[in-house]
Amino acid sequence: MSKISVGILGATGMVGQTIVSLLGKHPWFEVTELAASDKSAGSTYEEAVGTRWNVSHSMPDYARDMVVKECKPDLDCDLVLSALDSSVASEIEESFAGAGYAVSSNAKNHRMDNDVPLLIPEINADHVDLIKTQQKRRGWKGFIVTDPNCSTIHMCLALKPLFDSFGLEKVMVTTMQALSGAGYPGVSSMDIIDNLIPFIRDEEDKVEIEPSKIFGTLSKSNIKFADLPISAQCNRVAVRHGHTECVSVKLSKKVDKKDIISAFENFKPNKSLKLPSSPEHPVVYLDSDNRPQPKLDVGLENGMASIVGRLRPCNILDYKFVVLGHNLIRGAAGAAILNAELLKSRGFIG
Ligand SMILES: NC(=O)c1ccc[n+]([C@@H]2O[C@H](COP(=O)([O-])OP(=O)(O)OC[C@H]3O[C@@H](n4cnc5c(N)ncnc54)[C@H](OP(=O)(O)O)[C@@H]3O)[C@@H](O)[C@H]2O)c1
Repeated sequence: MSKISVGILGATGMVGQTIVSLLGKHPWFEVTELAASDKSAGSTYEEAVGTRWNVSHSMPDYARDMVVKECKPDLDCDLVLSALDSSVASEIEESFAGAGYAVSSNAKNHRMDNDVPLLIPEINADHVDLIKTQQKRRGWKGFIVTDPNCSTIHMCLALKPLFDSFGLEKVMVTTMQALSGAGYPGVSSMDIIDNLIPFIRDEEDKVEIEPSKIFGTLSKSNIKFADLPISAQCNRVAVRHGHTECVSVKLSKKVDKKDIISAFENFKPNKSLKLPSSPEHPVVYLDSDNRPQPKLDVGLENGMASIVGRLRPCNILDYKFVVLGHNLIRGAAGAAILNAELLKSRGFIG
């Protein structure tokens, strides 16, 4: 099988580097183009990234000498994975979709557009069919699909088994989000050492609003949003990778703790959704008093799962628990790759 050629927009940033790293040996995709701002364009990838390389293993050899291009829709590839800064993502991603490229984006810009799928394959793979509406409405040969906010993805994966098995009425969540979630260079060291920042611009809105679209149902050409009230408080903490979220839920039924654990443990993607980057277990439940912890657990299932623990009754809602997830892998780069794999498996690319 010949591989699908891939360009990475924003290849030099935190998410872009993670995509470069994850696509080193991909069975379906081959990276043929790397692109970033005009500041990086013209340099080799190694020169452009310089000392900003932040993935725990070294830069893959295939990428080192590739020359970084500008983000213009004349790249030699069929699919682009976008890790662009949101200040520039709207226009650039639209120009690629208009020129016939398939765009799988990490940026927030198009997530809530009513004709753009906001995908978590284990939850709403059928929403890819919105692409047909998007192309018709916008007259594009290509299209855009997006992954959700990094905290949203991990919370929704953990909520999905509860949503399906017991019904979900209300959610409260407090996040403690890693520094790598803020891009590079992110939060100043003087601001975060010995400290916590109880504010991340726009984050609470995203965590409160995106799940209703993700859990929504696709009618002919629109998503009917799910009725899921969520209250979120988002904090930046001095952790390198891994967002931790304390979640409380009100369920539609009275259930025992063991039923909830069983729902977490038995949650598996449908067989037709077994994609190269799919985790075996999208939700991993850790039955231990002091887990999950970013330092110990963020790499489970290659960073592609949501790790859940500390399930216990809640005095205000029904139950509360802790969710941990890798913000750069399942929260961004790995999510955009998984969405691209879904596009191939459903015949939208390749
Ligand atoms: N970090 C996370 O955990 C995370 C999670 C989910 C979603 N996201 C989203 O993913 C995207 C990337 O995040 P990040 O953390 O990787 O940010 P980042 O480290 O700041 O990287 C931003 C990238 O955008 C490029 N860029 C900036 N201005 C540009 C321009 N005018 N034209 C073309 N390229 C330009 C940069 O290229 P240069 O190096 O050449 O400047 C760099 O490659 C953002 O939209 C972010 O919100 C991030």
